[in-house]
Amino acid sequence: MFEHQKIIAIGDLRVGMFVTKLDIAWLDSPFLSHTRAIKDAADIKALLQAGVKTLTIDLSLGVDVIPEPGIEPAVSAPLSIPPPEITDVPVPEVADVPAMNAETPVPPVVALERELQVAVELRDRVKKAVENLSRTLEAGAPVDVTELAPLLDSTIESLKRNDQALMSLVHLSRKAHRLGDHVFGTFCLVLNLALQRKVSEQEREHLGVAALLHEAGWTQLPLNLIGKRSPYTPAELALVQKHVAIGARTLAQSDLPELTNRIIAEHHERLDGSGYPAQLRGDQVHPLSQLLAVVDTYEERVHQLTDEPGVIPTVALRSLYREAERGVFSPEVVASLISLLGIYPPTTAVLLKTGERAVVREHHSDAPLQPVVAIHYDAAGAALAAPLVVDLRQAAETRRAIESALDPGASEGEYWRWLRPSEEQLIHERAVR
Ligand SMILES: [Fe+2]
Ligand SMILES: [Fe+2]
Repeated sequence: MFEHQKIIAIGDLRVGMFVTKLDIAWLDSPFLSHTRAIKDAADIKALLQAGVKTLTIDLSLGVDVIPEPGIEPAVSAPLSIPPPEITDVPVPEVADVPAMNAETPVPPVVALERELQVAVELRDRVKKAVENLSRTLEAGAPVDVTELAPLLDSTIESLKRNDQALMSLVHLSRKAHRLGDHVFGTFCLVLNLALQRKVSEQEREHLGVAALLHEAGWTQLPLNLIGKRSPYTPAELALVQKHVAIGARTLAQSDLPELTNRIIAEHHERLDGSGYPAQLRGDQVHPLSQLLAVVDTYEERVHQLTDEPGVIPTVALRSLYREAERGVFSPEVVASLISLLGIYPPTTAVLLKTGERAVVREHHSDAPLQPVVAIHYDAAGAALAAPLVVDLRQAAETRRAIESALDPGASEGEYWRWLRPSEEQLIHERAVR
């Protein structure tokens, strides 16, 4: 054992410690990884309930046992001790960000421009992880989901600091027809939705891993079926629908937790029985599967993954809303997604009542119709020398209310150039506010 490691009894476990090993098998553990910071009393309670008696802690990454007598019992340890930073993504100047409680809606604690720098790196890590998972499965080898724990933690932390950074990146690559972009988007969206809906940390982990692996079966299908520009033939449709069964077969030897497998198996089931492969109905579809189903459908439409023409985010949300009214999806889950993204999700091009054209930069959860926008074209259609970033929630900006969402892909020419934001544009625009 290393000098900075120590075996302790569960009774000595406190918030702020960094655990590296448990005395139970990881499959019995309430957490995806045995390596984790103890962030709150719920973490300690979960380990107690799982039957953990002793643990190994790393003193170089977290706090030590308090030696003095008369210390409060571990479970009631003060929650104000800040957990150590466990993300391996460099987070500039956020070391003193207070620990946040996912149960309480709070405004972003880090400015979007700063969080975007972290999010760009995180996106590349997620997409690389998805590529590695695909390669492992294609080689017929099992995947080790414990390796995904740091990625889950980093993503959750970024979403908590300022979810608009990852939400912007998810929407930048819309209509990309790429599986990696779709999986990245589904992963970030479903974790953000889980945070908003107060899903427990354990269930969030199952959901996150399921999102990363839910399209494992697609990697075995002909590539030309992704984003096909003409309708599938009946044979192609049957093949596409087999991706769920193929995925289950591919993942069978990976020893995934039962709930993770179930969420993956049910991501195309619909509450009215119109889904596949088992035509489950209502409560037969696990609540977490219902979350993934809504996010996955939104993402597929925005990223044009199947043979359906891609649509702008506002239209995708509207179609989900109508389907929820018809009983296809849970109305509560669809309402949560709309509340999370706003009526005009980040990167949406919009026409303002003034005749100006802009791109949505940041969504206010308490003012879904009044986001922060970057105006690129004046009322006469002339491009501005530099974009004007304005917060439509400000009283002085009421004349600039949003008239409608635009689809820049529907028109050609220079006029639309700045309404299809690139990553560089997104980051540059933040600097001119
Ligand atoms: Fe799927
Ligand atoms: Fe999907």
